Amino acid sequence: MCGIVGYIGEKKCAPIILEGLKRLEYRGYDSAGISFLNGNSSGVVKSVGKVSMLEEKLENQSLDYSIGIGHTRWATHGVPNEVNAHPHFNTDKSIYVIHNGIIENYQPIRKRLKAEGVEFVSDTDSEVLPHLIDGFIKKGMSLFEAVRYSLNEVQGTYGVAVISINEPDKIIVAKKGSPLVLGLGVGETFIASDVNALIAHTSRIVYFEDNEIAEVYKDRFYAKTITDEKIEKEIIEVKMALDEIDKGGYDHFMIKEIMEQPESIFNSMRGRLLLGEGTARLGGLDGFVERLCDSKRIILSACGTSWHACLVGEYMLEQFAEIPTEVEYASELRYRNPIINPDDTFIFISQSGETADSLAAMEEAKRRGALVLGICNVVGSSIARKSDAGVYTHAGPEIGVASTKAFTSQLVVLALITLLIARRRKVSLVDGMNIIQEMKKIPQKVEKILKLNDQIEKIAENFVDAKNFLYLGRGYNFPVALEGALKLKEISYIHAEGYPAAEMKHGPIALIDENMPAIFIAPKDSVYDKVISNIEEVKARNGKVIAIASEQDDKIDDLVDYVIKVPDTIRMLMPILTSIPLQLLAYHIAVKKGLNVDQPRNLAKSVTVE
Ligand code: F6R
Repeated sequence: MCGIVGYIGEKKCAPIILEGLKRLEYRGYDSAGISFLNGNSSGVVKSVGKVSMLEEKLENQSLDYSIGIGHTRWATHGVPNEVNAHPHFNTDKSIYVIHNGIIENYQPIRKRLKAEGVEFVSDTDSEVLPHLIDGFIKKGMSLFEAVRYSLNEVQGTYGVAVISINEPDKIIVAKKGSPLVLGLGVGETFIASDVNALIAHTSRIVYFEDNEIAEVYKDRFYAKTITDEKIEKEIIEVKMALDEIDKGGYDHFMIKEIMEQPESIFNSMRGRLLLGEGTARLGGLDGFVERLCDSKRIILSACGTSWHACLVGEYMLEQFAEIPTEVEYASELRYRNPIINPDDTFIFISQSGETADSLAAMEEAKRRGALVLGICNVVGSSIARKSDAGVYTHAGPEIGVASTKAFTSQLVVLALITLLIARRRKVSLVDGMNIIQEMKKIPQKVEKILKLNDQIEKIAENFVDAKNFLYLGRGYNFPVALEGALKLKEISYIHAEGYPAAEMKHGPIALIDENMPAIFIAPKDSVYDKVISNIEEVKARNGKVIAIASEQDDKIDDLVDYVIKVPDTIRMLMPILTSIPLQLLAYHIAVKKGLNVDQPRNLAKSVTVE
């Protein structure tokens, strides 16, 4: 999704902004642009494609500017081209605006401004902003007031940064529904939509809340609400090492993040397992544990991969916590009449913590009086801040667009929450201790699975030209089938579907022939024999089968074409292990197809539009 980076200080701003924009590349975008100020001179440069193309365009320009704003755009209104790229400007090019989000009422505003004689150059919703601001300035307002008045006229979401040639010592920023942070340096201030873009420069961060606006100078800032109330903002010290957001010697962020899983999984459980008491300690839920455990119903809600984690969570909670549990697509929740009661608990799961659909569903759940918890990876993100309480996954920054380590860490946190509730309800100390012992062994087992990387790469060679894939699993491994199929679709553009294995005979079996590879997730568990029967059915129709099987399963080798063996654990933790070979398989197929695995086409890391 769109990214924002800004700088105001004494240094040349272009290299700082370009570097920041590159750090946001993982979010997905299709064009980029930058504008600068120095005294009463200004400039704007835009390009379609990567930030490196913008950089090339800037090479021959004198860039003696120390105030600037840069943007990466992910098209929503109007095709990706230079005209539609940000920054947008007013008629005399004195005001420049970058905008993340969507202005829902841009059409009536645009119509009105056109009737007043304004000529629009782009097809975007965002271009109304510089013209609106211009109108208020012409009535005698300061830049800050003009931006504030303009934002009071728009409906929708925004993270904005605005500069003006007539007030060249400041940047105005504001936020509603789209993230925005300040980084405070010494005699310089950074602006970004994501803390990753400025962590190289400072660790002193200010997070803005919705409906807040600020006037930012190189050495200070003043914040208000957009309804003109003065506010004090807290400065937060963010601890994040720069190498956490670099590739660390790997070809892609995705493989780096897959390989980091022994550590990220360990970090998700670090300090949270109480072996002696056979339970989990989750400080983020303090004050809410009782209400959670007494819930009549738990609703897990999210989008995409995080939604698949919810499905696994449903199995965990029903098996051990014995609380009726449901899973909801966050994107669907608001568009029906959900029956939500005050004794329900919603748990929203989100890597980014900024997914617009999840945030909207969360507002709805809050409005209806439910307890709202969050499981987020990005510290200080909107979902983390807006939930009543929550648990961070601590997987570290996930840059690859396809989620991998964040998913396995979400499963760990769900297991911890399940354990916490289960021990307060029915599960015995011994059973609780057993779950903990198994959890502790997971990082080592993941290490063992990652050693199969070469084997999985060889298997991938056989499927580079496949057009379709079926992923099949049962019980806890049904969501893994969905997640495996999503990973392949996202980065290799091969059509793939996940199904509960037994559903195959109710339709998908019609697709099976020698050109339809089927991946079975078939560890030795209570449904193993039934899954083996499904494998036989595929083989009888000449289908190619890849099985993810248990280490000690020597029967399956003769039955299938390829087998990837993983260590065993208890059923509730098995998806953490079985999902990893599927991440590797998708990765290698996509790399062998020569595709950009870290930034697949049309996808964004953080989906901040509904
Ligand atoms: C898939 C993927 C997406 C996200 C989804 C929700 O690999 O990354 O499906 O899971 O967009 O994002 P978060 O978890 O940030 O709310």
